[in-house]
Amino acid sequence: MPVQPASANQEDAVRADLWGDFRRIRAFTEQLSKPLAIEDYVLQTRIETSPPKWHLAHVSWFYETFLLRPFLPGYHVFHPRFEYLFNSYYEQTGTGFWPRPERGLLSRPTVAEVYRYRHHVDEAMGRLIDGCSSSDWPLVEQRLRIGLHHEQQHQELLVTDIKRNFAHNPLRPAYREDLQQAAVREPDPQHWVPFDGGLIEIGAPSQGFAYDNEGPRHRTFLAPYGLADRPVTNGEFLQFVADGGYRDPALWLADGWATVQQGGWQSPLYWEQIDGDWQVMTLGGMRPLNPAEPVCHVSYFEADAFATWAGKRLPTEAEWEHAAQVCLQAGDRSPAIQGNFVEDDYLHPRPTARGDADQGGGLAQLFGDVWEWTASAYLPYPGYRAPAGALGEYNGKFMCNQMVLRGGSCASSRDHLRASYRNFFYPQERWQFKGFRLAETTR
Ligand SMILES: [Fe+2]
Repeated sequence: MPVQPASANQEDAVRADLWGDFRRIRAFTEQLSKPLAIEDYVLQTRIETSPPKWHLAHVSWFYETFLLRPFLPGYHVFHPRFEYLFNSYYEQTGTGFWPRPERGLLSRPTVAEVYRYRHHVDEAMGRLIDGCSSSDWPLVEQRLRIGLHHEQQHQELLVTDIKRNFAHNPLRPAYREDLQQAAVREPDPQHWVPFDGGLIEIGAPSQGFAYDNEGPRHRTFLAPYGLADRPVTNGEFLQFVADGGYRDPALWLADGWATVQQGGWQSPLYWEQIDGDWQVMTLGGMRPLNPAEPVCHVSYFEADAFATWAGKRLPTEAEWEHAAQVCLQAGDRSPAIQGNFVEDDYLHPRPTARGDADQGGGLAQLFGDVWEWTASAYLPYPGYRAPAGALGEYNGKFMCNQMVLRGGSCASSRDHLRASYRNFFYPQERWQFKGFRLAETTR
């Protein structure tokens, strides 16, 4: 019996692993969609959100465009116009795209057709992963990994867009009635964790998957600093609200104050005062505000105003990443990360408790629960060049006017996150699970 070269065996093992990942991730998207009624699939209540049906189709379009068309001989597209309908923003595919604000105006294709589209793509992806040539495989593997992480990003958007849509409805319906709920209590006191800083390195290491925007890894200098051992809580943010934080322009950046005025903001998104008590909209419907939970659904502007009110500041992304590196090493858990993620099935931030979900090194809830706003603008790292071709549009062209968030949320997948992961959103946006932790300069 001929002995296969080790590299061929290794390649077969990687193909088998990736096919397993593909099936698991595809199935999870459909599992997240299961509680939806047909009417829920088409709704788009805000320009920044997309209908669930669109997400289900768009992630399939991604595999079709970047893998099946170029690499699977004889592949038949499911529908010739889907490349226009379900392209999000890629100019270089040459197909154009249906306007984002009008994604919710399409009753066709039906939900059933979109599921058939998904399964058509699944079947073809099985043939591609199994049968593509070894010469094509390195590029197929690279794009497949991007496609899987892309689908995980859209799983999070699916969850947050469903929440946005349901919160728009005066019935405040629950996406799921069976979600676990934490006991309402006061938060534990906040403590500070010091870091020496100095000349440090941030950015994705050369091994393992990372998006292009996480590199190149590079050196940067940090003055000594401290980070709060946990994110700011609802209870603390409530004090800011009660102290007139939303009425004092001295606390706000100019753009933030203009946004507060324009939107009539008086609290984080999804907070409602009912008969004198604060309640919040969750994926399990309305619940009493829990003071011990990390504050969530705040904009960069609100995070910054709170920090100003508290006499502190937000961490830079380099400070956050350096602290994460130190804590992961101290906890000896690298590369596994701990936290409350989508798999934990709370779909809501958990109360903050010292030692709970601790990475080691004294910082709790660094990963999961809420994305943490940083004080850093989303810019290219030194030496960054967007990759050539349409896939180069994935991250690079958004490096203007957005802010970086770190750490992932209760709607993120655990194996989607890394210490070097850079999420980015416009500073006024609140519908993701976004919170923050405080920082201080120590010298
Ligand atoms: Fe996308």
